[in-house]
Amino acid sequence: MMTVLKNELTLEITPHSMWAQKFWDELIPAKERVSQHPVFIGMANGTLKLECFRAALLNFYPLVAQFPSYMALALAKATQFNEAGVVPTRDWLIQNIKVEERHLTWYRDWAGGFGLTVDQLDHVTPPPAMNAVNHYLWSINHRGSLAECLAATNLAIEWATGDWSSHVYKGIHNYQNHPDVKIDKRSLAWLRAHAHYDDIHPYEAMELIKRLCEGKPELQQKAFHAAREGLEYYALALDECYKLQG
Ligand SMILES: [Fe+2]
Repeated sequence: MMTVLKNELTLEITPHSMWAQKFWDELIPAKERVSQHPVFIGMANGTLKLECFRAALLNFYPLVAQFPSYMALALAKATQFNEAGVVPTRDWLIQNIKVEERHLTWYRDWAGGFGLTVDQLDHVTPPPAMNAVNHYLWSINHRGSLAECLAATNLAIEWATGDWSSHVYKGIHNYQNHPDVKIDKRSLAWLRAHAHYDDIHPYEAMELIKRLCEGKPELQQKAFHAAREGLEYYALALDECYKLQG
């Protein structure tokens, strides 16, 4: 259910119109396929093998590290200030990019706690099925409309990520006693942030998509497809990673 929420930018979350409710509801199965994926269920209950956990941390690093760059491509096209939704989208993207500044370090700390070095992270080339989500996000943020960019990046990826990170954060203590794992305040900062304050981002992204697409059914359709594709590539990466679980 949508509630009226406000953040520091006072972006008001308005009730969904009919098309927006349908848009949101029809994305839920694709979002759940990511957030309820066996990789994340396993991370949350401690059954994911360390080899698989590490492969996930390593190969999802480019997605985390490049995330603000994807948003920067979207920001570069937020210039038609006379069009509905463009100014608030610009302001929101600038703020969201700023928030991401610290997340790179926090993610490296999490990976470090699970035995990965910064050098390993910075030199990773994920297998094609795990890198496809990055290629897709480079592509859509380069060639798509502003609404498609937000749908693929901030709605799809941040929505599913906020969901799984809250489960994983609650269950991460299951790895506490593993000799090769170090869990402390520092190594949990990324998870804690995404389980908590980041979770408003998808609702705000949806609000901006509504403003950008209002009265434009063709754009609504395109934005929906962009979000669904983002989620499908995310799921593809997880399927590939889960092969290591055996
Ligand atoms: Fe983040």
